[in-house]
Order: sequence, then structure tokens, then C-alpha cells
Amino acid sequence: MEIGIDKMGFYTPEFFIDMEKLAEVRGVEPAKYTIGIGQEKMAVAPLSQDAVTMAANAALEVLDEEDREAIDFVLLGTESGVDHSKSGAVWVHRLTGIQKYARSVELKQACYSATAAITMAMGHISLHPERKVLVLGTDIAKYGLNTGGEPTQGAGAVAMVLSANPRILALDTDSVSMSEDISDFWRPLHSDYAIVDGKFSNQAYLNFLADVWGEYKQRNNRDLSDFEALCFHVPYTKMGKKALKALTEQASEEDAARLMGYYEPSISYNKAVGNIYTGSLYLSLLSLLEQGPELPEDARIGLFSYGSGGVGEFFSGKVKPGYKEHMLKDEHEALLNNRRELSIEEYENILQQALPKDETDIELDVLETTSGTVVLKGVQANIRHYGKN
Ligand code: CAA
Repeated sequence: MEIGIDKMGFYTPEFFIDMEKLAEVRGVEPAKYTIGIGQEKMAVAPLSQDAVTMAANAALEVLDEEDREAIDFVLLGTESGVDHSKSGAVWVHRLTGIQKYARSVELKQACYSATAAITMAMGHISLHPERKVLVLGTDIAKYGLNTGGEPTQGAGAVAMVLSANPRILALDTDSVSMSEDISDFWRPLHSDYAIVDGKFSNQAYLNFLADVWGEYKQRNNRDLSDFEALCFHVPYTKMGKKALKALTEQASEEDAARLMGYYEPSISYNKAVGNIYTGSLYLSLLSLLEQGPELPEDARIGLFSYGSGGVGEFFSGKVKPGYKEHMLKDEHEALLNNRRELSIEEYENILQQALPKDETDIELDVLETTSGTVVLKGVQANIRHYGKN
């Protein structure tokens, strides 16, 4: 029985900034951000959008009545959790109208946890083939103003419905993962901003990639010639390029050219959104499937997931014939094209806003948010109130 991704939804907030304009204000050569980092635009989340609302909005794009009845597991991967106890998945379960007899859980391991959610979903579906699982990767990447990480921020969510006989990507059972306790990137409980050892994090990412890929090749007796395309966790698009270069260093000219050829379509959405942590690898996959040429039947895609701190995994899947018919390319292009550009001053104000850290009630101004979108309306008596705008 094949198990894999049957549907893919995506949401990013309605605001963005232009990276060249950010560079100008920061007194940096614009090419550093657009070429050196490889980002064109950066999504900015208003206070009324958080990990819960973005995940719900991504899921609402794809769920139909049949999914709502068949889903009995909601797995939300995030490192932007909004409560130490209650999982964001419970709110998403309610906001998306999934039937009551479902389990809803949040998973955390930096940018990696949506990949763990996929593994859990595969196990669940192999035991209950008639059931479906909703997997969400949703985050706001925040390093703070004037920091080295600032140009690699972003916000958004990817929602995936996993099922038997999937229509988009049948996942292989070949994954190789590894864990190693390192301090390259983390966010202490007291901080709204991530702490990062930037250069070390880049190196750690590449070390994990080399390690899991080496082990994967050996265990599965595969090499690059077995893959039509590769997708990576994309904290910023230049990192994906470094990863691809590292893997293809020893490859034949033919393999290197084929894999490089898919690189641009695989980062098209990431370039316009920025880092969405847990969703970044899946945004890259979405971008490849929607913006790339139709992949040959049964083409295998290799995927590298990395979550600082750290866990890495290399796994793969084969595209299903006719997968393009099940993608929402026009909708996702419209979502990105209809966003409003913020001035750098507006962005700076939004980035520094935060919900009260004490018991004060707050009602959020959500007037500017697109109608029909799930928003955080406010917090009363320490209870977050979510609903459609
Ligand atoms: N024109 C073209 N390129 C230029 C340039 C110009 N005028 N000026 C500089 N560059 C290039 C540099 O040569 C460099 O390229 P290489 O990396 O290929 O050498 C690139 O622009 C970046 O320049 P710096 O290394 O000087 O940049 P920096 O020190 O300001 O920081 C960063 C870069 C470390 C990525 C920083 O943005 C950061 O800390 N980001 C957050 C951490 C991160 O994303 N780490 C990724 C791995 S960890 C992970 O993947 C998990 C996760 O999601 C966080």
C-alpha cells in the first residue's frame, strides 16, 4: 500500500517587505541579501496571525468534507508555539471543522518536527488505511531588528493531508535520521527572538546533511542518479544552494546538471516568503511541484530535513502521475502576488509588537486582514480567541 501526501495547502500573511529596501536602510549592499543570502521578499506576520491561525488557513485551503470525516490525527509542527501546555493542533482541529473523534498534538524540534509528524502519520495510516492525517508545519521566524539573522526571517504554514493511495507524492520507507546535542540555534523560554550562532549553524546543517546522506546511500544502496530532484530545508535560499553544491560535488556531470536544473523552481516560493522553519522544506517541495516542469512518471525526489539543536533526516518519495492537477498553483501565486508591501518603518513597528506578557486583556485590530481568514481576535482572561475575520 502506498502512503503519502494527498493534498498540500499553503498560507502566508498578507504583508511583506522588499529585501533591497531593507538592505538600503541597514546600510548593506542589496546584493548581499538578494544574492549572498538569496532572498527577494520577506513575509511579515501581524499580531493577529500566529502559528495557529496560519496553520488553520493553510489547512482550510485544501480540506473538504470527506477529509474532515476521515482525518483522525492532527499533528502540528512548530517552534512558535503559543501555549506551554495546550497544543496549537487543538485550535486548528476546531477551526477547520475536523470530526470530533480525532487526536490533536503539537510537536517540537526546531525546523524538523513536521518531518517527525510525517513519520507518525505514515505509521498511523499503515495501521488504519482508511484514515487520513493532517500534518502542519507553521512558524514565524524572528531574529530581531539589526541582527545577522534579520534577512532570514519569514512567516507561513504548509498543510499536508496524508493518506493511503496519495495523489501527489508516495513516500518511501527509506528515511535515515540522526540526533546530536549542539547549540547552533535555539530560543530560550524567556525570549521572543531566536538565538543563533550563524556560521556554526550553516556548518552544522551541512555536517548533518553529509552524515545522513552518507548513511542513506549505504543503507538503501542508492546514489544521486536515483533522484530526479532534491529539496532541502531552506532557512534562506543560498543555504539550499550550498547543500545542493555539497551533495553534487562528486556527482557525474549529468546528475549535477539535472539536479541543479530543478533548484530555481524549488526555491521560488521560499525566496518570496523567507524562513518558515518547520514548513520550509515542504514549501520548497510545493514550489518544485507547482513552479517546476512536470516531473517524469515515478520520479523520485530526495528530501533533507534539518532542525537545529539538532535533528536531521534524509528521505524520499515518488511523484504520482497527474500530480499537477492536484496542485493549487494559481491560488498560491495569487496569495503571494496580492500581498501588501510594508515600508521598513511599518515592518519595524510590527516586528516589535507583542501580546501582553501579563494577564492584561487585549482586543486586536484585524481590520486590515483579508476577510474569511482565520485570525487571533484577542486574549481575554488568558484565553486566546480565534475565529474567522
Ligand atoms: N554581493 C553578493 N554576495 C554578498 C555580498 C554582496 N555585496 N556581500 C556578502 N555576500 C555574501 C557572502 O559572501 C556570503 O556568501 P557565502 O555564505 O556563500 O560565503 C553571504 O552573502 C552571507 O554573508 P555573511 O556570511 O557575511 O552574512 P552574515 O554573517 O551577515 O550572516 C547568516 C549570514 C549566518 C546566514 C545569518 O543571516 C544568520 O545567522 N541567519 C540565521 C541562521 C540560519 O539561517 N542558519 C542556517 C542553518 S541553521 C537552519 O537551517 C535552521 C534554521 O532554519 C534556523
